[in-house]
Amino acid sequence: MPQGVTIWLTGLSGAGKSTIAGQLRDELVARGRAVEILDGDEVREYLSADLGFSRADRDTNIARIAFVAKLLTRNGVIAITAAISPYAAAREAARATIGDFVEVYVRCPLDELARRDPKGLYARALRGEIAHFTGVNDPYEEPATPEVIVDSRGQTVAQSVAAILEHLQSAGYLGAAVAA
Ligand code: ADX
Repeated sequence: MPQGVTIWLTGLSGAGKSTIAGQLRDELVARGRAVEILDGDEVREYLSADLGFSRADRDTNIARIAFVAKLLTRNGVIAITAAISPYAAAREAARATIGDFVEVYVRCPLDELARRDPKGLYARALRGEIAHFTGVNDPYEEPATPEVIVDSRGQTVAQSVAAILEHLQSAGYLGAAVAA
């Protein structure tokens, strides 16, 4: 069985987690790996439809994602999670329970997120129309020592994906490098 791992993408809404997750999956599938994405928006539709955005609800959401990611990881799958996961303690609990865990901080400054704003959420949050919106009026605790940091303003998606693949390779999650 191949070595499973969870790639835990964390960062603000709109930073590019889902886009990076999709392209990373394509690269890993092309290398013959089984991959599943646990995307925040999808999880909230199917697994966490009962939850809102209080700290307690976010922690429950993240614990559910971590539980599913653990099951996948121990069966040789590469699980890619793409939820804001704003609280460091919840991410550390996920790391502790999963073990094979690569934390990737998808960093993007707030002014860039407000400029992109495809869902119009930042505009609404900045007008005070959404309570507890992460990065505006609710906390985001930056990872202190993530395995990888990608810069979603300064890097292309392909560059971000390449940086993650490089880490996976050097950490031994992709098996032996194939000679050119
Ligand atoms: S998490 O905090 O529990 O990890 P998750 O990634 O599942 O969050 O969901 C975030 C998505 O929910 C955002 O991309 C956004 O579309 C939506 N959303 C709605 N309300 C909020 C809010 N108050 N804070 C952040 N995201 C919100």
